[in-house]
Order: sequence, then structure tokens, then C-alpha cells
Amino acid sequence: MTSAPGVVTAATAASDVLEPERATPRPRTTTEEVLVLDYGGQYSQLIARRIRECGVFSELLPHHVGVQEVRRRRPRGIILSGGPASVHTPGAPRLDRALLDLGVPVLGICYGMQLLASELGGRVEGAEVGEFGRSELTVTEPGGLLAGLPATQTCWMSHRDTVYEPPPGFRALASSTGSPVAALESPERGVYGIQFHPEVAHTPHGSEILKTFLYDVCGCESTWSPASIVEDQIERIRAQVGDGSVICGLSGGVDSSVAALLVHRAIGDQLTCVFVDHGLMRKNEGEQVIHAFRDTFKVPLVAVDAEERFLERLRGVTDPETKRKRIGEEFIRVFEEEASALAGTATSGGADAGVPARYLVQGTLYSDVIESGGGTGTATIKSHHNVGGLPSDLSFDLVEPLRALFKDEVRAVGAELGLPERLVWRQPFPGPGLAIRVIGGEATKERLDLLRDADYILQDEIRRAGLYRELWQSFCVLPDIRTVGVQGDERTYGYVVVLRAVTSDDAMTADWARLPYDLLETIASRMINELREVNRVVLDITSKPPGTIEWE
Ligand code: XMP
Repeated sequence: MTSAPGVVTAATAASDVLEPERATPRPRTTTEEVLVLDYGGQYSQLIARRIRECGVFSELLPHHVGVQEVRRRRPRGIILSGGPASVHTPGAPRLDRALLDLGVPVLGICYGMQLLASELGGRVEGAEVGEFGRSELTVTEPGGLLAGLPATQTCWMSHRDTVYEPPPGFRALASSTGSPVAALESPERGVYGIQFHPEVAHTPHGSEILKTFLYDVCGCESTWSPASIVEDQIERIRAQVGDGSVICGLSGGVDSSVAALLVHRAIGDQLTCVFVDHGLMRKNEGEQVIHAFRDTFKVPLVAVDAEERFLERLRGVTDPETKRKRIGEEFIRVFEEEASALAGTATSGGADAGVPARYLVQGTLYSDVIESGGGTGTATIKSHHNVGGLPSDLSFDLVEPLRALFKDEVRAVGAELGLPERLVWRQPFPGPGLAIRVIGGEATKERLDLLRDADYILQDEIRRAGLYRELWQSFCVLPDIRTVGVQGDERTYGYVVVLRAVTSDDAMTADWARLPYDLLETIASRMINELREVNRVVLDITSKPPGTIEWE
């Protein structure tokens, strides 16, 4: 993505180098990697995801990572991402020319192509009119990169600067409505460029172009798969923990579930999982987690029914942040108690007698690593989203088997390990659970139970309609509001249930889901008929921004 001159992003401004311990180690089972250097583009992560979907391991690194670090990783290919700057802006991120002397093919996308073109003597200028959205691409000469593709096709553009002439020795391969040169290459130099975004779904032939680059140009093989990830992680976990004891806080979410299963597959009963049921889960969720782990996978599991403790801590609390704080503190307290109780058990004769767990499993994902500065040097994680997790100062060494994985890969690994579909595809659920969906007044057992029942109906109908996976989240909110209604011949004075369903890619932005009217009607009438305390159902049609996904 490029925009008006003068825009300097966090990625541009960052001067920090990648801390080695934050970097993601390349999996042992794959010898191949394609690096994406991030120039601050909106779709940079998506490029790495798409490459991995093609079976090739890929990482996102800041554009300023340095040629030494790139060389150390011995990538098979390098991709320069898009970005919001203009090559003509003073201080705009530049290309380290030494990257082109590594003997590794380089593909520039959008800003990445403009950088290559301007550095190598082509003509890049600001166009009168930008080219944003769908555009018609005409392939004038397929060359190597666009070989086998239709002569005209749709592609997705997002830029203002445009390449008017390719650098000497380069061939222009295509043009589009707003780009005289929309693709270029010099196979002799191993340098390629496309102005459009092959990583987005709106470029229908995008994956084919990426595959051509990966397989034909870089000579990669497809070795990155859920099975290879499992194999790799098992080896890695064994090497890290030896015969040490490991503890894992299981929440029932896909991340902690997959992390726990991977670790169990690697070291068996050296792992103990702790599941804290704070009484703020959705209906039957606790039982499902216990059943899957204890009964099906035979993972040693301590399940703590801590509902009363949590309700006690929530008594009289109405402020959202106080709720989060109290729940977070109590969670850590319960977890620590269980960890020391387990250490006591070990002292009295377990395999690891006298030694408390030294390792703690965490479901950190690759996107967390990138967002907390491990990838691009920007820190954007919201602190409140860590509520319900464990603090970093617990005296454990961390085992993080998902650290190299995107969410969709975590799900694929979960399926590979035989995790039930319900857990693999569970929508995200906040650590403080239903407590932050009981709005105004106190989160009492009665109100939580009512919300749980309403939520159950919503989930049931959404699953029945086959929409569960399409939604980022779907849930109910129970405000402290009663309204007048009439049922039978009687006047009622009951609770209002709010339906909230959103689509999103990463929870940073979200759109309210256009659920079918008939489905909404079924949900509303079931809630009013089955839940005596409810006499009105409303739908939240606020996107994010300006709203947030949760109400508190
Ligand atoms: P908002 O409401 O900020 O939420 O749009 C974005 C995403 O974060 C989840 N969320 C939380 N997750 N602890 C969590 O673990 C929390 O305190 C918390 N608050 C919000 C929310 O469900 C959505 O997916």
C-alpha cells in the first residue's frame, strides 16, 4: 500500500534491531524459508501466511533487519512488502542494495516494487489519480513470473506512486488501468516486482503468482505442513525440557488446547494441565474440556471448580476494569496454589519427586510475537487482552510450541492431533468470560446463569445455520435493563438480551455480521419462549471502530 508523500509509519521510524531471543527459530524439519521484509504494509502478515499455505515456511522481519541477519537465515527467496510511504519522501524506508547481491531471488510487492524500480534506475512518480481497489490487469508479456496466466485478469491495487518505466535491463510484463508498469522482471538479476497485491483474495490468480515465485523462481519445495510442524515441535519440546516437569494452564481455547496436546505428545505424563473453572465459562464448556483432555487424550489434568471464589471476588463490583483486575488476580492465585499443591504431590513420590514444575506451557502465537515487537519493532497488543493469562514473572521457564504459528496453522495442527472440531474451531472467548458481558450492576450467579442460557441458544442456532466458523465471535450481552412486554394476556417486566455477532480477521477491526432475518427471528423467539426472565431481544449493529467487540 502506498499513500501520499510524507507518511512515515512506525515501521519506517523504528530503529531497533531484532532481539535474537524474540526471533522465531526456523523449524528443524524444513530447510527452506522465504523472508518477507515488512515495509509497514497492511497486508504484510498475510503475505507470510499465503506463502506458508503454499507449503513453504515464511517469516516476517522488519525491513531494517540488516543484510547480515538475512544472510544468516539463508532464505530461498526474499519478498519486499508494500508500505504506506512514497519513495520520494525524505526518510522513507530504503532498500539495502546488498540484499540484491546475496544470490537470492527478490520479489517486490507494491511499495517493494517501487523501491526496486527507483533504486535500480527506473522511473517512479506520483500519479494524478491513485489506484485503489479492483483493477484490470493486462499481461503484455508473461515472462517467467506471469507465465500460464490469462492475458487479462482482475487484481487488487492500493497505491498512488506508479512505475512509469522499468529500470534498464528489466522487462515490463503487464499494465493496468492506473499503472503503465504493473509487473516487471529481470530473471538474470533475480529481481521481480508486482504493483498489485497477490496475497489478497481479490486477486484471483495471486496464489498462482506466489507459487511461480516460490517453486519456479526460488526452487522451493512444499515441505511445511501440519504434520511437519507436529514432528518438529515434538523434537524441540523434548530437547528443551528433558525429563523436567511441565505445567500448563488450560482455558479450553484453541491455543492452550493445541499447545497442551503438542507437549503431551512430546513428553507424555511429565505434563500436568490445570483447568481453572471460574464459573464464567459458557454452558457445558468446562465439561467438554475435561472430557476431551482427561478421558479422550488421557492427559493428567487437575480441574479446579473455583466458581464460588470468583463470584465472591466479584461481589459488589460493577466497574469493568476492576472486574478484569479481580478476575486476573484470582486466576493467578488459584493457578499458583495448584502448582504448589502439585509440587507437594511430587515430593511425596511422583516420577519427579521433590521437584516442582520447572516449565510452563504458553500458547503464544506468531502474531503475538510480531505484535509485541519480535517481528516488526512495533508494539500494539492491548494490555487488557492479557487479562486472564499468567504474569511473566512466575518462576517458570516457558515452553511456547506455537510461537512460530499463525492461528490458522494452530487449528490445522489441532486437527492433525485429533482435537475435536468444537475445540479446534472455538471462537475467541475473553479471559474474564461472561463477567464482562453482564453489564451494569453486579455479575451475580443468577445473571450469569441467564446469560449462559441465552448464549447457549444463540450458539446452538448459529451452528445449526452453519455460520459458526464464518463469524469471528457471536455472543449475548445482558444489560441491567428491564422492559415492559406482554405475553399471553399478561404484562411482563423482563430482561433485554443483546445479540452481538461480528466478522473480523484479527479483532483490531470488525464488522457486525448480517445474520439472516429468519435466523434472528428463531433466536429471539427461542430466547423469549425458553427463558422466562427475558421478554425482549435486540441486535447490536455497531462496527469496530467506533464500537469495541465486547461491551465492557
Ligand atoms: P474489544 O472488545 O477490545 O475486543 O474489541 C477485542 C478482542 O479481545 C477480546 N477481549 C479480551 N480477551 N481478556 C481477553 O482474554 C480480556 O479482558 C478481553 N477483553 C476483550 C474480545 O473478546 C475480542 O476478541
